[in-house]
Amino acid sequence: MHETLVPVNLVGLPGSLRKASFSRATLIGLHDNLPEKVRLEICDLQLPLYNEDDDRSDAPTQVRRFRDAIASSDGVVIVTPEYNHGVPGVLKNALDWASRPFGKSVLTNKPVLGISVSPAFTGGVRAHAQLNETLLSIPAHVMGGPQVVIGSIREKIEDGVLVDQASLSFALTALRRMITFSRLSSPRLIA
Ligand code: FNR
Repeated sequence: MHETLVPVNLVGLPGSLRKASFSRATLIGLHDNLPEKVRLEICDLQLPLYNEDDDRSDAPTQVRRFRDAIASSDGVVIVTPEYNHGVPGVLKNALDWASRPFGKSVLTNKPVLGISVSPAFTGGVRAHAQLNETLLSIPAHVMGGPQVVIGSIREKIEDGVLVDQASLSFALTALRRMITFSRLSSPRLIA
């Protein structure tokens, strides 16, 4: 039987706005090593601060674009640093926008793979735990399995790209699990 691979479109969210961000570099490393028929669009989280007064059908343009990108994707990959033992405000702000209007979260049941990175050997584990808790409340489908945490990230980046093979292989294994999950739950599945 001839099998056709279902295309999978993923959105990548870096939890940092820094130009030389290691989080973004990690997403670029994944982007450069994607399996066949998988696309990853890396988004910018430069969004206004969440304000419930603005949370109407005519939400700010950047917010609408951001929500649309998630809504039309097959899954989301978040790579976040840890700020003061938690999730950076930039990422939390974006997730708050994505979670509303109430009951219409674009992340509802969306497969999400969280990855934390840090120049420290702790790899941002505390931010990772907080991220999972927020995602569960949204309610996204948080991918289980070994927690992808990358410590000493500074030494693993070259020219703005994650190149460390062990880290890439660890993260890509988790990513492939999400891709398989996404394909199995896809209405476009062709046997
Ligand atoms: C940090 N950093 C940091 N690292 C860590 O492992 N645990 C922490 O609690 C913190 N706290 C923290 C607070 C603030 C305000 C800043 C700016 C930084 C260091 C952080 O991991 C490092 O700057 C990363 O390089 C930031 O991620 P990007 O921008 O490289 O993606």
